[in-house]
Amino acid sequence: MLKRIFSGVQPSGSVTLGNYLGALKQFVDLQHDYDCFFCIVDQHAITVPQDRLELRKNIKKLAALYLAIGLDPEKNTIFIQSEVPAHAQAGWVLQCIAYIGELERMTQFKDKSSGKEGVSSALLTYPPLMAADILLYNTDLVPVGEDQKQHLELTRDLAERFNKKYNEIFKIPEISLPKEGARIMSLQDPTKKMSKSDPNKKATIALLDDPKQIEKNIKSAVTDSEGIVKYDKQEKPGVSNLMTIHSIFSGKSFAEIEEMYNGKGYGDFKADIARLVLDHLLPIQERYHELINSKELDEILDEGAAKANKEANKMLRKIYNGMGLGRKR
Ligand code: TYM
Repeated sequence: MLKRIFSGVQPSGSVTLGNYLGALKQFVDLQHDYDCFFCIVDQHAITVPQDRLELRKNIKKLAALYLAIGLDPEKNTIFIQSEVPAHAQAGWVLQCIAYIGELERMTQFKDKSSGKEGVSSALLTYPPLMAADILLYNTDLVPVGEDQKQHLELTRDLAERFNKKYNEIFKIPEISLPKEGARIMSLQDPTKKMSKSDPNKKATIALLDDPKQIEKNIKSAVTDSEGIVKYDKQEKPGVSNLMTIHSIFSGKSFAEIEEMYNGKGYGDFKADIARLVLDHLLPIQERYHELINSKELDEILDEGAAKANKEANKMLRKIYNGMGLGRKR
């Protein structure tokens, strides 16, 4: 039997090149060797305020993007989290075994809550919901970017805690990080990760951005005044981030890239990156526009929800039985 993959992306804001290189591209590469469940995690998105119409739009956009990047709906189960109630139900149970202290230690919670008023309690309890997403499907492997590593470790801890205290029902999932691109940085502040929610639109490359905008953002990416294309994450974070993007799309090693731009400065380097990125993204954008208003998309999501509900409810029953909730079934 094929091993199982589960992963999810929040439909909040525009999907970035960071999301693509950290997670989505892995989905495409791994889909042939695993039985995959790819989720649009809309219940995670509402841990911060969302405009209802925008959220609805972003859910459909992300579904179309999943297909446009090359996920095969015949092979993979693609679905929306809120259409499978077992996620919230299992999320509650896992909240009951998670400790406040361990949730407060999550760096993403600290980043998103520090200095803010009116932070929702769900921002704190977000990782047990993520653990539920993963554990409901007997998941072997979770392809994500580096920023999710801590959440994955907590998922493993919660699974082990449940197994020990109640019943051995959960498989302990492994993380899959891409070899390169696990942490793509902001184009304007290369010490920060590229993020969907960055208010500075020059800092990100959104997969569905206007090609001219993408080119402009790459050309105005922050580098340094040295004018030397060299990989050095500490001293040259901007150039190193751009080299990572170049290397993934060109297939060239850092040494080869350094050699290519020896004595040339950043102009040619950035122009080539813009071309490499656009060559890759334009066909994705074209497929996306064909799919976004198609009936096919709704059918795929309906089928995905049906399959995910069936699978998740089996595990939910085991969880309830393990803890003694409700009546034995
Ligand atoms: P989200 O929606 O913030 O991001 C989706 C995926 O993109 C990766 N990513 C990045 N990778 C490299 N460089 C970056 N700058 C970058 N920014 C984001 C993330 O690591 C992630 O893999 N909590 C998750 C969603 C989630 C989930 C799950 C994931 C909910 N349930 C179950 C896996 C399994 C999140 O907020 O991802």
